[in-house]
Amino acid sequence: MSLPPPRYDHTLVTGASAGLGRLFAERLAPRARRLTLTARREGRMLELAAALEARHPGLRCRVIALDLAQPGAGTRLAAAVREGGAPPLDLLVNNAGFGRHGAFEQFSWEDWRRMLELNVIAPTGLLHAFWDDLRAVPGRGAINVASAAGFQPVPWFAVYSATKAYLRSVSNALACEAQGHGTRLLSLCPGSTETEFHGVAQLDTVFLKPKMGAARVVDEGLAAYEKGKRELVTGLRNRIVAVAAARAPLPLVLALAGRYGRRRSPPQAAGP
Ligand SMILES: NC(=O)c1ccc[n+]([C@@H]2O[C@H](COP(=O)([O-])OP(=O)(O)OC[C@H]3O[C@@H](n4cnc5c(N)ncnc54)[C@H](OP(=O)(O)O)[C@@H]3O)[C@@H](O)[C@H]2O)c1
Repeated sequence: MSLPPPRYDHTLVTGASAGLGRLFAERLAPRARRLTLTARREGRMLELAAALEARHPGLRCRVIALDLAQPGAGTRLAAAVREGGAPPLDLLVNNAGFGRHGAFEQFSWEDWRRMLELNVIAPTGLLHAFWDDLRAVPGRGAINVASAAGFQPVPWFAVYSATKAYLRSVSNALACEAQGHGTRLLSLCPGSTETEFHGVAQLDTVFLKPKMGAARVVDEGLAAYEKGKRELVTGLRNRIVAVAAARAPLPLVLALAGRYGRRRSPPQAAGP
């Protein structure tokens, strides 16, 4: 079944204070009438919202500052998005996420718990909260920012790669469930990309170089969403690695990923 044209009137972008999320907001601003931006760093988002409103007359931006790694944050965000009679969402960009590079024991349980909340529970909760709205009108949908790391288990990036495997899986399966409603779901799987991600994750490996520009990832992601694709791995090299990893024997994949993924120095105490 061919999909109706995508709708963007009201778009929610999570992780809009930096990196891919900020660029999603910039690229979607000319197409949206209302943009809701969320992350923790309110000041950055207020500046972005003001700049976008000035650049695109008629656009209304709203900023909701929230820690999405707190239990129940997805539900609170969904309620806040609907407050004040806001129109239903046309597009949910489930983008906020973070990684940690290192051995399982090198980070605290609180770190891993927050990663599971942000990378798994919050995006699933938001999909569930807006699911009826997204399926109510053909052309609505969601972009779920997973990762090329979600195509195989990655030692020393174990929890992060597993959260992204989960998001890929749920996005692809829900795309199938929603197809009859004309709903678009894209699992966007970037490889190593130039954002603040590497600093936050404390990446310390040669494995993830070279980095792709964030603008290219977002532009290719939006083009894939417009075409109605269910999944995109950005960059030819990343696509070849992802396909090979999905087909190669697991012991070989683990040996290679483990060899190149191992940390070269101990991580620092992690920030929030
Ligand atoms: N860059 C890469 O190499 C790469 C590769 C594959 C996949 N990805 C994925 O791409 C997505 C975007 O990451 P990025 O590369 O743009 O990284 P980034 O520059 O670090 O941006 C991450 C965004 O997530 C937000 N965020 C982090 N923790 C949060 C929390 N507890 N509550 C609410 N928002 C939070 C951050 O805002 P605040 O800090 O203001 O809260 C920021 O806006 C992530 O899901 C990441 O896993 C990135």
